[in-house]
Amino acid sequence: MTHDVAGWAARAAELDAADPLAPYRDAFISSDGVVAYLDGNSLGRPLRATRDRLSGFVDGPWGDRLIRAWDEEWMAAPTELGDTVARVCLGAAPGQTVVADSTTVLLYKLVRAAVDAQPARIEIVVDTDNFPTDRFVVEGVAAERGLELSWITPEPHATVTPDQVRAAVSDRTALVLLSHVAYRSGQIADLPAITEIAHDAGALVLWDLCHSVGSVELALDEHRVDLAVGCTYKYLNGGPGAPAFAYLAGRHHDRVRQPIQGWMGAADVFAMAERYQPAAGVRQLISGTPPIVGMLPMRDMLALIDEVGMSAVRRKSVALTAFAVEIADALLAPYDVRLASPRDPSVRGSHVTLDHPDLRQVTAELWERGVIPDFRPPHGLRIGLSPLSTSFAEVAAGLSVVAELLSRPRA
Ligand SMILES: Cc1ncc(COP(=O)(O)O)c(C=O)c1O
Repeated sequence: MTHDVAGWAARAAELDAADPLAPYRDAFISSDGVVAYLDGNSLGRPLRATRDRLSGFVDGPWGDRLIRAWDEEWMAAPTELGDTVARVCLGAAPGQTVVADSTTVLLYKLVRAAVDAQPARIEIVVDTDNFPTDRFVVEGVAAERGLELSWITPEPHATVTPDQVRAAVSDRTALVLLSHVAYRSGQIADLPAITEIAHDAGALVLWDLCHSVGSVELALDEHRVDLAVGCTYKYLNGGPGAPAFAYLAGRHHDRVRQPIQGWMGAADVFAMAERYQPAAGVRQLISGTPPIVGMLPMRDMLALIDEVGMSAVRRKSVALTAFAVEIADALLAPYDVRLASPRDPSVRGSHVTLDHPDLRQVTAELWERGVIPDFRPPHGLRIGLSPLSTSFAEVAAGLSVVAELLSRPRA
């Protein structure tokens, strides 16, 4: 079989030339020997501006202002940065979002807060294909609080549907926990419809936005989302271990109480009070000292997305994933590679998953060749396309190497 590698490279060059966001690629640090970085859905590339921001922080607020910087700026950072994430990416008004902890810890706090607020309801609805940490956290909370789990099983290569949620919720349901963009298939769940269905049953909904934030437009306030979490090291380029964000709708602030009561989330941090009194508003979600250093890199990406606008980011994302699907159909389908993501771009996030039994082995060889996607068992090669840092040329080059590796006679 001949692979028209040159033909796809030429198409990619045309698409890059016509891409209004192409100049923004220069804002990111390039990596020696990397032919195609296709894993921005796991760890976004660093921005050049982040280099200066990090060194500036050592000499500036930390080295210069020392402990005084807590009063001057750091105490406010979790909510100030949370408000920026909310405005730029979440479609949420200020005062409802904090940056703190990991996604896992914030999930725990919000799941516990949500179920404890509704003691008469004894069930959490969750799906079997949700990300492991989400399933593990609800299993832990259910064991801790004597609750039941009601499991939805999505169709293969798909996400949870409104009908499945309708069938699962009842007056026993305290909380529905789902991912907005499924980490395997990349399918976007119908957030407005599902949220409404859960509300009709009197339940709260917690959305995991890890694969959405910074790649898919969101309107949390408009759709009356109750709670949400998301990480910042994927499409917000916050760097490895960057803290996550939590959204808690203002209407629930006086109704919920999170379980990790720490001094930094107390009403008067330096009162050294005898008893815990939660801070007002979303600040109550904070527990210990906020990870100020970890909050730095995402600020550069948020500034970039703010400049470009989420709708332009989403347009580029759709164009990139559509191109990946087109190439996969032409170059990879002949080797029985199956598309395990939606064909319909309106329900496809910013990654495309390809299925084939040989792809685990192929992924290891791709990394050696400087083509960097990731792999999720059992057979899924994930092509993550971070809209502002990925070129069409990278998509063509990367998938051409996949085709070349699959074309070799099998052992
Ligand atoms: C959908 C989803 N949820 C949760 C997590 C876990 O996040 P953290 O490691 O920040 O706890 C991830 C990590 O990749 C994820 O993809």
